[in-house]
Amino acid sequence: MGSMSAVVVAVLCAFAMHAGLLVTNAQLSPTFYNETCPTLNDIVFNVVSNASLTDPRIGASLLRLHFHDCFVQGCDGSVLLNNTDTIQSEQDAIPNLNSLRGLDVVNNIKTAVEDSCPETVSCADILAIAAEVGSVLGGGPSWDVLLGRRDSLNASQALANTSLPAPFFTIDQLNASFAAQGLNLTDLVTLSGAHTFGRARCSTFINRLYSFNNTGNPDPTLNTTYLATLQAICPQNATVDNITNLDLTTPDQFDNNYYSNLQQLNGLLQSDQELFSTTGADTVPLVNSFSADQTAFFANFVVSMIKMGNIGVLTGTDGEIRTQCNFVNANSSATLLLAGVASKVNLVAQSK
Ligand code: HEM
Repeated sequence: MGSMSAVVVAVLCAFAMHAGLLVTNAQLSPTFYNETCPTLNDIVFNVVSNASLTDPRIGASLLRLHFHDCFVQGCDGSVLLNNTDTIQSEQDAIPNLNSLRGLDVVNNIKTAVEDSCPETVSCADILAIAAEVGSVLGGGPSWDVLLGRRDSLNASQALANTSLPAPFFTIDQLNASFAAQGLNLTDLVTLSGAHTFGRARCSTFINRLYSFNNTGNPDPTLNTTYLATLQAICPQNATVDNITNLDLTTPDQFDNNYYSNLQQLNGLLQSDQELFSTTGADTVPLVNSFSADQTAFFANFVVSMIKMGNIGVLTGTDGEIRTQCNFVNANSSATLLLAGVASKVNLVAQSK
């Protein structure tokens, strides 16, 4: 068998194994809200596509939000919870701080959904649908999002700090991080393809630009032309954390150029370039096949997204359906109660 056919067989086998695993999770369903909120998908699509008119990056930001939700105690909307007396927000964890985007758009979606279908749709499901819409708006694949997740009553800033992979991770560290979530190397290479759109701050890749691993030299697996461009965007000792495109060729398109970038040593994050430049790694043939075949990338992306969307979900009577995504219901009603008391006090004050 030629080496190319071997790669194709390997990819197909990985795909089949992937698909097989999905069957075991029967709890979520694409028709979960068919009776209770038939317009849900349209509502999410409309809010996100409107937002994308003024913010072309929003689809990418929403896709990342779902990933950052799922990797921290499961896809349970925990990333959306704000700080309160009892909750230390995941939004303040290092991978999220000054970096998460789209929280306001999620709230706009939630408001529109509550208008049509009150107290029915979880914030965790809204994140899963918004991630799919983000892919579609970028020109990427669409899929039937599995639904029926419920929202957590808590969050974990500590887990957000330890469970989310860092941009300076090696292939072994990336693999360990994904394996801890039940995801394999194929999922890692496939889902990293989400870096086909969106942006990153200098602080997430400056380690590669001047003295990589304290060598006094830049990362040798960084294309020298690209290196010069990035050094201009991210000067040493800069006071501002500039941003640049994750995909230098088609920054807002969801396509397979991410993988051809890696082949040309034009990956932005160390964690991206590791997938291609780690000698002998099992990820290299996958990068090559996704670079050669966008259809294979898209097919795998759908499978891995559904797999990621199944991580640690709350279903049935676990958790709750939050009425506001940023607060658990007990807290929302406390806030409403206080607001009610405050307005009564005001009325009394005004009537005097
Ligand atoms: C493999 C390990 C991963 C690492 C180390 C990683 C790291 C990062 C970093 C550092 C950024 C830039 C953040 C900033 O500067 O504010 C970023 C952006 C992004 N990541 Fe990842 N990521 C990984 C996997 C994923 C996965 C699995 C997805 C989704 C399936 C994803 C989707 C995105 C998207 C779409 C953006 C751009 C967001 C925007 O423009 O707002 N990443 N990632």
